[in-house]
Amino acid sequence: MKFMVIGADGQLGTDLLKVIPMEEVLPLTAADLDITDRNKVFELVYKHKPEMIVNTAGYSRVDEAESDAEGAFAVNVEGARNLAQAAREIGAGLVHISTDYVFSGKKNSPYQESDRPEPLSVYARSKLAGEEAVAGTLNRSFIIRTSGLFGVAGCLGKGGGNFIDSVIAKGKMGRPFSVVDDQFFSPTYTMDLARKISQLSRTEKFGLFHVVNHGACSWYELAVKTFELIGLTINFSPSRFAELNAATAAKRPSYSVLDNAHLRAVGLDDMRPWPEALSAYLLEKGVAAQ
Ligand SMILES: NC(=O)c1ccc[n+]([C@@H]2O[C@H](COP(=O)([O-])OP(=O)(O)OC[C@H]3O[C@@H](n4cnc5c(N)ncnc54)[C@H](OP(=O)(O)O)[C@@H]3O)[C@@H](O)[C@H]2O)c1
Repeated sequence: MKFMVIGADGQLGTDLLKVIPMEEVLPLTAADLDITDRNKVFELVYKHKPEMIVNTAGYSRVDEAESDAEGAFAVNVEGARNLAQAAREIGAGLVHISTDYVFSGKKNSPYQESDRPEPLSVYARSKLAGEEAVAGTLNRSFIIRTSGLFGVAGCLGKGGGNFIDSVIAKGKMGRPFSVVDDQFFSPTYTMDLARKISQLSRTEKFGLFHVVNHGACSWYELAVKTFELIGLTINFSPSRFAELNAATAAKRPSYSVLDNAHLRAVGLDDMRPWPEALSAYLLEKGVAAQ
C-alpha cells in the first residue's frame, strides 16, 4: 500500500516511518506541505496518488488556542478537510488523528466511541470539528482518538519532549516539584499507536476508533512508574488538578480515559498495558534501569 504521512517529523509521524516499510511511504513535513494550503494539498495528492494518507498534523498548543481559535481551526479543521477532499478525489483513504480532549470528563468511566463528546476548550472543539469534517467528507476514513502520547521524537507542537522526558529532567535537577494526581487518562506510546495505524489502515474497517494503551493512571502515577523503571528515587509531591485547571487558559477534562471498544469489536485490540509500553519507551530512549 502507498502511504503519504503528513507531519512526518512529529512525535507520531517519526514512529510511523519506523513501522511502515520505506518503499511504501512518502513522508511530508510541514516544510513540504502546509495542509491549510488547499491548492498545494491537491497538487501533491494528485502528483503522488497515495492509497492512504495519514494526517498526524495538528495545532496542539491547547492554551494558546484559546486566543488563537482561527489558527487552531485552520489546521485542525480546514487542513483536515482539505486532505479528506483530496483523498476523495483520487479514491484514497485517510487516517486522521484526534484526541481524548473531545470529552468533558464528567462520565468518570472509560469513554467509548458511542459516548457523546463535550469539548471544554477551543482546541478540543477544533479537534471535534476536524473529526466531523473528515467523516462528513470521506467514507474511506479512520478517525483515531488517542491520549497522552509519548515517543522518542517528542511533541514538536508542544515545543519538543513529552511529559515523561520533562519529569525525568525535573527529577534529575533535584529541586522540589509536584505532579497532578487526580487527572486520569490513558498514556500511549507512539510506537504502539503507529503499529496499530499501519495494521488498521490496511483493512476496510473504516470509522471512529479509540486507540490507547490499556489501563489508566494520573500524571502522578505515571511519574512514579517512570522513576521506578529507571531506578531513581525521587521525592516529589502530588498536586490538585483543580489548582492547575484554574491557572491555565484552557479547561481540560479531569478524566479522559478511553476504551478501545471499536478496536475490540473488530478483533484488533491487542494494545499492551501502559506500564509495559512505558518500559519499552524507556528502553528505546536508553534510560531504563539495567
Ligand atoms: N501529544 C499528545 O499527547 C496528543 C494527545 C492526543 C492527540 N494528539 C494528536 O495526535 C497528533 C500527533 O501528535 P504529535 O504528538 O505527534 O504532534 P507533533 O509532534 O507536534 O507532530 C505534529 C506534526 O504536524 C506538523 N504540522 C503542524 N501543523 C501543520 C500544518 N499546518 N501542515 C502540515 N504539517 C503540520 C508539525 O510540524 P511543525 O512542528 O514543523 O509545524 C509536526 O511535524 C496531533 O493531531 C495531536 O493533536 C496528541
